[in-house]
Amino acid sequence: LKSEALAQLKDVSDPQTLNDLRVKYLGKKGALTEILRGMGALSAEERPIIGQVANEVRSAIEQIIDEKQQFFLQQETEKRLQAEKVDVTLPGRPLRQGGVHPLNKVIGEIEEIFLGMGYRVAEGPEVEMDYYNFEALNLPKNHPARDMQDSFYITEELLMRTHTSPVQVRTMEAMKGEVPVKVICPGKVYRRDDDDATHSFQFNQIEGLVIGKNIRMSDLKGTLQQFVQEMFGPKTQIRLRPSFFPFTEPSAEVDVTCVQCGGDGCRMCKHTGWLEILGCGMVQPKVLEMGGYDPQEYSGFAFGMGVERIAILKYGIDDIRHFYSNDMRFLKQFARL
Ligand code: PHE
Repeated sequence: LKSEALAQLKDVSDPQTLNDLRVKYLGKKGALTEILRGMGALSAEERPIIGQVANEVRSAIEQIIDEKQQFFLQQETEKRLQAEKVDVTLPGRPLRQGGVHPLNKVIGEIEEIFLGMGYRVAEGPEVEMDYYNFEALNLPKNHPARDMQDSFYITEELLMRTHTSPVQVRTMEAMKGEVPVKVICPGKVYRRDDDDATHSFQFNQIEGLVIGKNIRMSDLKGTLQQFVQEMFGPKTQIRLRPSFFPFTEPSAEVDVTCVQCGGDGCRMCKHTGWLEILGCGMVQPKVLEMGGYDPQEYSGFAFGMGVERIAILKYGIDDIRHFYSNDMRFLKQFARL
């Protein structure tokens, strides 16, 4: 029995078999236990002899089982250590860093330029009252010019603002007739448009408003000239085309020499050499008056530009929807600019 057990135990290579063999030989119904249990039937002379042999066999088996168990335990530990080994000399994994969204980047740049000219930044609500969005900007109810900006109405008196111009009115109100007023107002605006490559129901504008004594159209033109040169490069020129807005008189649309070709003519400027970038004008006297400024004493200018449009021109982007689709391949291009 001893040699059989020892032979079997020697070849054991996994803990499960070892346990099975332990039960087979030393367990309650094991071979050795059987023998010890049968001892009662033996004579008084035989009993100590057989007992001694049986005990020897038992301790021999126990010993080898112990050794094997020890060995398996060690093997297990080693395997674990091997698996958990850390190579401290490996280079670290690069952290993926987020970047500033191109639109926020452009808004930041525009703000910097105007802050440098002594403007401050003002903001207003995106859910706006009809009064600020239209009425106080000389767009009374049923005015045909309201059609220019198809709106999302919430109630009769509340709508998603269609431009940042209501912040002009709110600023005038807050300034209570004080001058100078010199603000830019960035923010989201909403219009009922079907989205396509050049339209979005939601986009960003930056409004500018200056009020003081003797503010003239030449101040407006000089300001915008300075702005485009800082924004698009020192060679950039502007031209003003007569236009119409109910809240400015006279009104103009402003073009810059093409950012891509410098005015030589390319696909982006449709070979005209010019790109339209904003609307502007001298603040309409009625608007000044409704804002608490006497048009006899004060004058001012205002302008409004689309941030997406500026970004599209500056970076040669072909579809406004890129700004909102969160495609990492698009966004990553601006991470390091
Ligand atoms: N609010 C006008 C628009 O959204 C832009 C504008 C602003 C024009 C200020 C003149 C003065 O089209």
